Order: sequence, then C-alpha cells, then structure tokens
Amino acid sequence: MIRFGTVLLALLPAAGQTVRTPTRSWTQESAYAGSRICAGCHGAIYARQEASNHAGSLRPPAATKELTDSLPIRIADRASGATLTLTQSAEGKLELEASKEDKIERITLEWAFGSGAKGITPVGRKNDGTFVESRISWYAFQHQFGLTTGAAGGDPKTESESLGRNLSVKDVQECFSCHTTGYAPDQPAPARSEMGIRCERCHGPGAEHVRVMQAANQKAPGADKKIFHPGTLDAFSQAQMCGSCHGRPPRDTDLDAIRLIEQSPNTVRFSSQRLVLSRCFNESADGLKCTRCHDPHTNVVAQRQHWDTRCLACHSAGVRAKARTCPIAGSNCVSCHMPSERVMRNSEFTDHWIRVVRERARR
Ligand code: HEC
Ligand code: HEC
Ligand code: HEC
Ligand code: HEC
Ligand code: HEC
Ligand code: HEC
Ligand code: HEC
Repeated sequence: MIRFGTVLLALLPAAGQTVRTPTRSWTQESAYAGSRICAGCHGAIYARQEASNHAGSLRPPAATKELTDSLPIRIADRASGATLTLTQSAEGKLELEASKEDKIERITLEWAFGSGAKGITPVGRKNDGTFVESRISWYAFQHQFGLTTGAAGGDPKTESESLGRNLSVKDVQECFSCHTTGYAPDQPAPARSEMGIRCERCHGPGAEHVRVMQAANQKAPGADKKIFHPGTLDAFSQAQMCGSCHGRPPRDTDLDAIRLIEQSPNTVRFSSQRLVLSRCFNESADGLKCTRCHDPHTNVVAQRQHWDTRCLACHSAGVRAKARTCPIAGSNCVSCHMPSERVMRNSEFTDHWIRVVRERARR
C-alpha cells in the first residue's frame, strides 16, 4: 500500500506552484494509461490531437524533420569565437559540437522542444549530466537556424559555453512539466512519460477511466467516469487550467498584477493573462471560455469567418448577450481587435486582450 501511494504521488505534479509550474486540474486518483489506448474509443479526437502542435511540442531530435533536413550545418559564433557544428551521426544521433582552436566540446541532443509552428530548440546533456539548451534553434519565421531566443544577448567565453545555456535541475523540470505528459517531477528526465502534450496532461491519469469504461454496464448516465472533463470548468477556471502553461491569469481583485500585465507588451505571449483583461470576458454572463474559440484537440483555425462567427454570436443586434455592435466594420473583427504582435525577434502572438486597440500597429 505504502509503496503504491509513493509511486502515485511521484507521478503527480506537486501542489503550490509558482507561475512557471503547471497545476493539475483533475482530482481522480489513477495511474497513467498512455494516450494510445484512448484511440480505441475516442478515435476522432485522438486523430486530431495526435497531429496537433500540442502533441508535437516535444519530440526526439532525429524524428524532427525541420532539424534533420538541413544538416549538417555550421555557424560561426562571433561572441565566443567558436565554430558550432550540428551533424547527424551514422546511428542517427544529432550532435552539437563547439570547436575553438584545438579544443572541442560535444553533446548529443536528446530532445527537440517546439512543434516547429514557431521554433524548435534542442536540449542535450553533457557527460557530467548537466542539461544544455542548445545555443542554436530552428525558426519557422526564417525557415532556418539562428541563435536561440534569449541566447542572442549571452556572452559565452569558452567553447563549452558556446554549446548553449546550462539548465538548472529546476529549469529542466519546468521544461518537461509543460512539454510532456505524466512527467514525474522527481525525475531528471521524462522516463515514464510521453513526449508532448497528450490526453492525460489535461484530463489527468486515465487508467481507472479505461478500466471502468471497458467494464460492461458502467456507462450509465451520471456514473463517475473517473476522468476529468475540463468542459465542466467555468471560464476563469479554464483560463487558469490553460494558463498553467499559457500564462497564469490574475484574479480581478489583484490590481497590481493586472496593471503590470496591461503595461508589459511582452505579456501578449500569455493568452490566458491577456484574455481575462477583456470586457468580453468580464461582462458576459458565462465569461468567455478558451474553448468557445479553440478546439483544445487541434491547432488554430486560420479562417476569418471562424472568428467573425464567434464575435458576432455576442456582438450582433438582438442577441441576448447585450454586447454592442461595431460602428466601423462588420467582418474581420480580430484584425483590429486582436492584433498580432511581434513579441520576440522570432515570433508573433495574438493579443487576447480584446478591445479597441488605439495608436498601435495593426496586422
Ligand atoms: C473502453 C473505451 C474507452 C477508452 C479506452 C477511453 N474512454 Fe474516455 N470515455 C469512454 C466513454 C464510453 C465515455 C462516456 C461518453 C459519453 O458520456 O458520451 C468516455 C468519456 C470520456 C471523457 C468525458 C468524461 C465526462 O465526464 O463526460 C473524457 C474526458 C475521456 N473519456 C477521456 C479519455 C482519455 C483521456 C482516455 C485515454 C486515457 C480515454 N478516455 C479512454 C470510453 C473510453
Ligand atoms: C501542459 C502545457 C499546456 C497546457 C495545459 C495547454 N497548452 Fe496550449 N500549448 C502549449 C505549448 C507548449 C504550445 C506550443 C506547441 C508548439 O510547440 O507549437 C501550445 C500551443 C497552443 C495553441 C496553438 C496551436 C497552434 O495552432 O499552433 C493553442 C491555440 C493552444 N495551445 C490552446 C490551449 C488551450 C485552449 C488550452 C487549455 C484547454 C491549452 N492550450 C493548454 C502548452 C500547453
Ligand atoms: C509554464 C510552462 C512552460 C515552461 C516551463 C516551458 N515552456 Fe516552452 N512553451 C510553453 C508554451 C505555452 C509554449 C507556446 C507559446 C509560447 O511560445 O509562449 C511554449 C513554446 C516553446 C517552444 C516553441 C518555440 C517558441 O518559442 O514559441 C520551445 C522551443 C520551447 N517552448 C522550449 C522550452 C524549453 C527549452 C523550456 C525549458 C527551458 C521551456 N520551453 C519551458 C510552455 C512552457
Ligand atoms: C490541451 C488540453 C487537452 C488535451 C491535450 C486533450 N484534451 Fe480532451 N478536452 C480538453 C478540454 C478543454 C475539453 C472540454 C471541451 C469543451 O468543453 O468544449 C476536452 C474534452 C474532451 C472529451 C469530452 C468531449 C465531449 O464532447 O464531451 C473527450 C472524450 C476528450 N477530451 C478526450 C481527449 C483525448 C482522447 C485526448 C488525447 C488524444 C485529449 N482529450 C487531449 C482538453 C484537452
Ligand atoms: C460571450 C460573448 C462575447 C464574445 C464571444 C465576444 N465579446 Fe466582445 N464584449 C462582450 C461584452 C459583454 C462586452 C462589454 C459590452 C460592450 O462593450 O458591448 C464586450 C466588449 C467588446 C469590445 C469593447 C471593449 C471596450 O474596451 O470597450 C470590443 C472591441 C469587443 N468586445 C470585440 C469583440 C471581438 C472582436 C470578439 C471576437 C474576437 C468578441 N468581442 C467576442 C461579449 C463578447
Ligand atoms: C474570442 C476568441 C478567442 C478566445 C476566447 C481565445 N482565443 Fe486564442 N486565439 C484567437 C485567435 C483569433 C487567435 C489567432 C489565430 C490565427 O493565428 O489566425 C488565437 C491564437 C491562440 C494561440 C496561438 C498563439 C498566438 O498567440 O497566436 C494560443 C496559444 C491561444 N490562442 C490560446 C488561448 C487560450 C489559452 C485561451 C483561453 C485563455 C484563448 N486562446 C481564448 C481567439 C481566441
Ligand atoms: C478596421 C478595424 C475594425 C474592424 C475590422 C472591426 N472593428 Fe470594431 N471597432 C473599431 C474601432 C476603431 C472602434 C472604436 C470606434 C469608436 O470608438 O468610435 C471599434 C469599436 C468596436 C466596439 C465597441 C462599440 C462601441 O460602441 O464603442 C465593438 C463591440 C466592436 N468594435 C466589435 C467589433 C466586431 C464584433 C467586429 C467584427 C464583426 C469588429 N468590431 C470589426 C475597429 C474595427
């Protein structure tokens, strides 16, 4: 019993997190089942989710075409005077090497973070076990490698430092807890877990659910399905759940936090934090859930029509929501009210603080 309890605890993320550590939203006690088994009964959702950028947000580097297609590459690191080379070995491993005069440092890259929608940053480990975030990343924006965001300002002195930023154990645990499923925080690397954000990262461990659903006569309406259904959350709780990765939202009483988010353009990266500032969110009867606009099992939809329909569901004459209509235009709402902003050199984000945006560039 005790041993079982210990294992379970180890599988669950710790409570009482800071901003960069995701919370668990579920309450069921269960072991993880792995997403494959969900496919048997939730085939359509599974197929969409498997192809999503959530699922692809962590992969083995050798399975990441964006990386392997452009190898070998060589970049001169002006800051350190070292030469960085990324190659694929005969066994298929990706190796990053930094050489300066006759000194050479090398690491094998073990994880590719990012689906490639925006960028991919490889992470490897030195011989002494230290995790290293590669100094070079692949960016969709230019469709090529460049200095990793945040590393551009770095000042590596040695060939070892030019390989990339050393990550502390805490950094690594945070990376994995947001980019994998079923990650045990006491593990240095995700041993038991699945790569990428899969079913049980949002629904919680599912072995009990599978057991109950496989048994006959357990499908009665109202019976405990032993799995977390995030559709039961109110709008703010859902913003918190998604916000455990997409920027934890402040409560509407936390005026200092709200002011800080309003005043920091870089918070556009954090959709949950920005959305809760919107009048649409605060003044609608049931709030404005992420899932009103996004299918959580698939990527964003690109058509204007999709978004216009969402806005007009509240902002049309005669609808119950009592939201005003626009005096300026009748379509393409997000182009003016949710503009895309360049946050960092290599990526743009959509401002989820829905409002009349004044004196700013629009897309
Ligand atoms: C043996 C078939 C089976 C398997 C395997 C299975 N499910 Fe289900 N699941 C069901 C059935 C049946 C329902 C109830 C459907 C309904 O009420 O419409 C359900 C409902 C759900 C719900 C909604 C729960 C609720 O309260 O309404 C979620 C979420 C869910 N499953 C997730 C998963 C995940 C994640 C996995 C993989 C770990 C999984 N399921 C594996 C059969 C299965
Ligand atoms: C465990 C962390 C985590 C949670 C929880 C999470 N996300 Fe994400 N989300 C990510 C990561 C990481 C990416 C970037 C994936 C990539 O590499 O492209 C992402 C990307 C997205 C995208 C962009 C997909 C695309 O088209 O490229 C949307 C939309 C999104 N998330 C919505 C949501 C919503 C809605 C929720 C809550 C139901 C949610 N996310 C919960 C981590 C998370
Ligand atoms: C709090 C959860 C969280 C943590 C911790 C986290 N990420 Fe992410 N990561 C995300 C989300 C959400 C996205 C997608 C939206 C974005 O880029 O902000 C993302 C996107 C990415 C991307 C895609 C490119 C990009 O910049 O958008 C890479 C690469 C990445 N993360 C690497 C890492 C690495 C390496 C670490 C650890 C040093 C890490 N992440 C830690 C949540 C997290
Ligand atoms: C990023 C978080 C996230 C991931 C990953 C995720 N889900 Fe969901 N899932 C949700 C949310 C949020 C809802 C509620 C949707 C709503 O209310 O419209 C949901 C709803 C469901 C439902 C109930 C559908 C219904 O109509 O009642 C099932 C079943 C389900 N998910 C299965 C899965 C399976 C299987 C996977 C993996 C292949 C998966 N989910 C991955 C967030 C997620
Ligand atoms: C769930 C209903 C709902 C949805 C969906 C919704 N809104 Fe709103 N929105 C409101 C309410 C309620 C208000 C406050 C009353 C008002 O200004 O009409 C508001 C206010 C606004 C305002 C005025 C903001 C201000 O600071 O005065 C703009 C602009 C706006 N919404 C645009 C949009 C756009 C664009 C979309 C789609 C991307 C959208 N809304 C989706 C309910 C909604
Ligand atoms: C009123 C509709 C609406 C709501 C509600 C909404 N989003 Fe979005 N979201 C959008 C639009 C529009 C885009 C941009 C799509 C595109 O690129 O064409 C977007 C894009 C995203 C992206 C991709 C990165 C980016 O910034 O472009 C993420 C991640 C995301 N949303 C997360 C969330 C989360 C988490 C929530 C809930 C807290 C949420 N969204 C609620 C409309 C919405
Ligand atoms: C070309 C840019 C543009 C587009 C497209 C656009 N709007 Fe607006 N919208 C504005 C501007 C500018 C204002 C402020 C008008 C003012 O204060 O005189 C505004 C005001 C609003 C308001 C506040 C109304 C009020 O009485 O002050 C709402 C709500 C709104 N828009 C919703 C929408 C919706 C919904 C759509 C899509 C059907 C949309 N907008 C399309 C630029 C736009």
